Amino acid sequence: MALRKRIRPQRQPRPARRLPQALIIGVRKCGTRALLEMLYLHPMVQKASGEVHFFDRDENYALGLEWYRSKMPLSFKGQITIEKSPSYFVTPEVPERVRAMNSSVRLLLIVREPVTRAISDYTQLRSRATPSAPAHPLLPGHPVPDAAKPFEHLAISPDGSINVAYRPIAISLYHAYLHRWLEVFPREQILVVNGDLLIEDPVPQLRRIEKFLGLEHKIGRKNFYFNETKGFYCLRNDTTDKCLRETKGRKHPRVDPAVVTKLRKFFIQHNQRFYDLVGEDLGWPE
Ligand code: A3P
Repeated sequence: MALRKRIRPQRQPRPARRLPQALIIGVRKCGTRALLEMLYLHPMVQKASGEVHFFDRDENYALGLEWYRSKMPLSFKGQITIEKSPSYFVTPEVPERVRAMNSSVRLLLIVREPVTRAISDYTQLRSRATPSAPAHPLLPGHPVPDAAKPFEHLAISPDGSINVAYRPIAISLYHAYLHRWLEVFPREQILVVNGDLLIEDPVPQLRRIEKFLGLEHKIGRKNFYFNETKGFYCLRNDTTDKCLRETKGRKHPRVDPAVVTKLRKFFIQHNQRFYDLVGEDLGWPE
């Protein structure tokens, strides 16, 4: 009697929650959300929906990797899970903690011209403070909250020096944070993405990132259209068109050009230190 071949039921691939194989570590206001949403256009990418803040907040880190995994999206084998929390870049404990999770994780660092980034940061902080209904009415002699002050007064101290203690300025000193990451990860494991170029023309930047992540090239011109009203590229896949929310691509206040020039001058040597660390000149204006 001929043996009948046993037909095995086809195994359906099962989705599971996996720890991220790639992280967008920062820098805030440089296009971290745009970058994540653009990468999500790739069929082999899954993204954590919010900022998980696992590595930078002690109370979350204490919950352990299983907690972190539970915050990840379902993914199929072979797909890459990406999470972004921009404060990872500036928090001292984070590089070591990331290495403890996965020493071969791929890291994406998106940067923008530092003075524009500082103004963008100020614009966000100002928009979050609600000037129409202040929590504490402005009484005579009462200090004016920072967010209500003009950028020029916050970025430049009364003696004319640059106020490096002002967070939007401090965060733009990229080299001061990057060197800590480079003490923990080899340079090749960090891809520096030029956020200004991502705004201008996303596809060439995404092509570089696909390569870095070991992904086939899939994201192309068909995935973008320029929205004249927003002044930015919006995203398109087979089913939907989508622009980023109105909190992304805010109008910046006018800043005194003399202050911009002074800040650009101040940043020259800091930018050079950053270029030296990354081994690339990003060509920011002086
Ligand atoms: P502005 O609002 O200052 O223009 P993050 O997501 O890290 O907070 O970065 C926000 C910045 O992303 C925005 O800063 C904007 O310039 C930039 N960005 C890049 N590509 C964008 C896009 N396609 N749509 C909207 N904003 C984009």
